[in-house]
Amino acid sequence: MGSSQFFIEILFSPFFCFKFQFVKIPNETLGSQDDLVVLGIETSCDDTAAAIVRSNGDILSQVVSSQAELLARYGGVAPKMAEGAHMQVIDQVVQDALENANLTERDLSAVAVTIGPGLSLCLRVGVQKARKIAGSHNLPIVGVHHMEAHALVARLIEKDLQFPFMALLISGGHNLLILARDLGHYIQLGTTIDDAIGEAYDKTAKWLGLDLRRSGGPAIEELAREGDAKAVKFSTPMKQHKDCNFSYAGLKTQVRLAIESRNINAEIPISSASSEDRSSRADIAASFQRVAVLHLEERCERAIEWALKIEPSIKHLVVSGGVASNQYVRAQLDQVVKKKSLQLVCPPPSLCTDNGVMVAWTGLEHLRMGRYDPPPPANEPEDYVYDLRPRWPLGEEYSEGRSEARSLRTARIHPSLTSLIQASMQQQS
Ligand code: KG4
Ligand code: ZN
Repeated sequence: MGSSQFFIEILFSPFFCFKFQFVKIPNETLGSQDDLVVLGIETSCDDTAAAIVRSNGDILSQVVSSQAELLARYGGVAPKMAEGAHMQVIDQVVQDALENANLTERDLSAVAVTIGPGLSLCLRVGVQKARKIAGSHNLPIVGVHHMEAHALVARLIEKDLQFPFMALLISGGHNLLILARDLGHYIQLGTTIDDAIGEAYDKTAKWLGLDLRRSGGPAIEELAREGDAKAVKFSTPMKQHKDCNFSYAGLKTQVRLAIESRNINAEIPISSASSEDRSSRADIAASFQRVAVLHLEERCERAIEWALKIEPSIKHLVVSGGVASNQYVRAQLDQVVKKKSLQLVCPPPSLCTDNGVMVAWTGLEHLRMGRYDPPPPANEPEDYVYDLRPRWPLGEEYSEGRSEARSLRTARIHPSLTSLIQASMQQQS
């Protein structure tokens, strides 16, 4: 890497010090920038995923090992269990990704891996694996932001998707509305003040006694098709807050109370429920889904107005993250977007839920801009302290969008991806 490499050390506060490494791409290391092949590894939550993607957008392989059985057994993600499950399968998942692509590590240009946000114990498994491969094959490594990856994968499937664009990122742990001004430059228009929509789907499914082996979201989506979405009156969250933030904790409570008042017993699986009981559960599922998604619609409508004031040239709203695989969510948001004369871009379900392709692709995007770390040492000690970022915002909050309802708990939050990249660019100029 030699002289083209330099380090920028930034002190953000007396308590916080980190290194952000910026390395220019030496062509002899990466070969032609038009023909890069990147392995992406994702272990931030409960899926162990790896994929290999070429810089022209070809997906050479994609492997996901999900912890569905564990999820069903514990009714949620238990970090220590999830870590153990990742450790059990990570080697095989990566090996399968290489074999399915008919490649070996020697054919790779770089390794990309999710370094945050997510569960530290889980992130660590992926980062350790990525650094092992990169170290033993002298490959550059790109640390990827999980939510940026959910947004950018839309650029792999929709080649016309240029910056600036908007994105609604909806998953089990996140509910984000962002304006993507450029690669690595994001404004956060809204986020959740408590739970994310995926968490509300998962809990509703658990309380309704649904089969959680494919996670709660798909189970609710399916059952909701049988129900009457107007049968149960749930109120839409945050009506009085004229911003773009979200809240799902109150809706969860409304659902729980509705279930209790109808004497639905989650111990009786839906498959054994009487037809009357089943239809009552379906009504709750449909009514919950209608209001949960209406909340998204209302916030998106306002966010589009805000975003167009900042960047009038915006043409697209990307909807991604696990919940974006839901057909009802897509159809409702399509109507909102059309009303505002924009276009909806929704990756296929396999690229909406956690996957390695989005990590490899985001790695490629940054690699092309020269943002990556040099190969780690071949024999890194087992107890090496990795740069993991469990709480890591994507961008700075839009000033109009600050919610009084939001807790200002900022302890142990990493500086945002956008601020790190901006700081490194200022150092260069
Ligand atoms: O993005 P993701 O795979 O993992 C996280 O980063 O959290 O999202 C997982 C979430 C889960 O809450 C799951 O129930 C939800 O996405 N999900 C769905 C659907 N498929 C997955 N929610 C609603 N409808 C679906 N079809
Ligand atoms: Zn995710």
